[in-house]
Amino acid sequence: MCGIVGYVGNKNCVPILIQGLKRLEYRGYDSAGIGLIHEDEPIVIKTKGKVSLLEERVNELVLESEIGIGHTRWATHGIPNEQNAHPHTNANKTLFIIHNGIIENFQALKNNLIILGYKFESDTDTEVLAHLIDSYLNKGINLSKSVQMTLNEVNGTYGLAVMYSKEPDKIIAARKGSPLVIGIGAGENFIASDVSAILAYTKNVIYLEDGEFAEIYKDRYVVKSILDKEIEKEIHEINMSIDEIDKGGYPHFMLKEIMEQPESTRNSMRGRLLIEEGSAKLGGLNDIIDRLVNSKRILISACGTSWHAALVGEYMFEQYARIPVEVEYASEFRYRNPILSGEDSIFFISQSGETADTLAALKEAKSRGALALGICNVVGSTIARESMSGVYIHAGPEIGVASTKAFTAQLVVLALITLLISKRKGLKPSDGKKIADALNEIPSKIAQILKLNDEIEQLAEEFKDSPNFLYLGRGYNFPAALEGALKLKEISYIHAEGYPAAEMKHGPIALIDENMPVVFIAPKDSTYEKILSNIQEVRARGGRIIAITDEGNGEIDKLVDHTIKIPRTIEMLTPILTSIPLQLLAYHIAVKKALDVDQPRNLAKSVTVE
Ligand code: M6R
Repeated sequence: MCGIVGYVGNKNCVPILIQGLKRLEYRGYDSAGIGLIHEDEPIVIKTKGKVSLLEERVNELVLESEIGIGHTRWATHGIPNEQNAHPHTNANKTLFIIHNGIIENFQALKNNLIILGYKFESDTDTEVLAHLIDSYLNKGINLSKSVQMTLNEVNGTYGLAVMYSKEPDKIIAARKGSPLVIGIGAGENFIASDVSAILAYTKNVIYLEDGEFAEIYKDRYVVKSILDKEIEKEIHEINMSIDEIDKGGYPHFMLKEIMEQPESTRNSMRGRLLIEEGSAKLGGLNDIIDRLVNSKRILISACGTSWHAALVGEYMFEQYARIPVEVEYASEFRYRNPILSGEDSIFFISQSGETADTLAALKEAKSRGALALGICNVVGSTIARESMSGVYIHAGPEIGVASTKAFTAQLVVLALITLLISKRKGLKPSDGKKIADALNEIPSKIAQILKLNDEIEQLAEEFKDSPNFLYLGRGYNFPAALEGALKLKEISYIHAEGYPAAEMKHGPIALIDENMPVVFIAPKDSTYEKILSNIQEVRARGGRIIAITDEGNGEIDKLVDHTIKIPRTIEMLTPILTSIPLQLLAYHIAVKKALDVDQPRNLAKSVTVE
């Protein structure tokens, strides 16, 4: 949700800002802008659309500056256009501000500023901050203090960076609810929403916490608390290379990330799966394992794809650990006055670790005394740091907005947690061994499924013009149906719905005719016979059926129009395998419709607003 990058040093910051924004574009891509000081003149350049358009404008102007800030936007207040793009400025354009988050009381602040004579050029909440800071600067207060005083008046969330041409040696940054990192270089320093923007220049970063405020100069930085006290911050070394966040020869990040899944799932279980013992070890849960195992209830909360993973986790934990599980959208959980106690454990699943709804739900759970645990991909992300304990999924950076490899890695980690807690709850060694062996084979089975890429591309050609899709599955594959439908919606803009297959007869069956493609997720598991009946029901109404089933299953061929056959695994792990063809189908349909697969309209990778 909006990308922020800033530089102060001895180099020309223009290419650094543009490259940084390109790496951050997954966070928002409806408009972009930079602010800098060229030959002592403050300059702001903004464009509607992608960073490449901004780059063209900037290149025409041949600008040089040793300090600058840049922003790529995901609109909240005001449509995507040049006026609403960041940086926003004060009236005489000496001050620039870029912001990620939402200023909730912006209207009241704006009304006061209008009374004082301030004129607004945009519809954004952010512009209010520019004028409010300006109102303090006009009283002779320095930039740092002016920003602090402004933030004291603000309700809402922000990750922000501010520059002022009359104090051209520093960038001011502040965080509350939206992530920011400071990159530490030699004679140069950076600010960014996440490390991907600055990884090409430094691996040493400081994570700002909520309520923290920083003055960043080329050769030093100062971090202060909300009470204006200087804070000693730990410098973290990032263990990720720039190659890991490039496309590696694939046309899209999404395809690269789909194809990486043999390796990413292997990485998720590396050093954690104890094959001989039929168990798992997860260092992040060591300190709280007794409390977790003795929980009266486990809750899992998340959003979007991570919520689908949570649903699979519910099936896993209940089947093997026999602990009651509830799954809840984070956005609903936090506002419904949930009944929680110290006997509850609650997992928060988030790829980015920055999702605002999930983070707020986590804080709510902590405040009510539950054991709040994180399952995140991004190391050092806010949810990872705010959790009482947790597990990283180690899927590697996921840049495509549609989540793919993070989903399968989340399922692997949930399976490892299932093994760990079920062993403590008396899981038979032979069952533990069966799960561990099956998990160990998952990466090679995914590699086998990926060989069906061409076959699935042909299916995409046949179905790309269908305006609607239904995805049906049962048991462990009901969440896979939801996920398949979400993938298609997100990137191809085709209306798709996922349902438990048995629910079809309670309503969605009315939609079925010869124009409705229905994707059945039908591995030969305990629900298979039942799902065959659902297939018959669709067939009787002329629906066009694609079935995902096991290799060697011949009987289904005559009932459906197309089958995608995948290797067998144990029931609890089937969604890891069945989700792969669904990802490929969505991907190829979107490509054939010439859509922007990695940056679909209206979406953002990291949803840091409520
Ligand atoms: O980073 P998170 O896992 O917390 O993100 C949650 C959702 O925003 C995310 O899964 C979203 O639904 C994806 N675009 C799915 O592809």
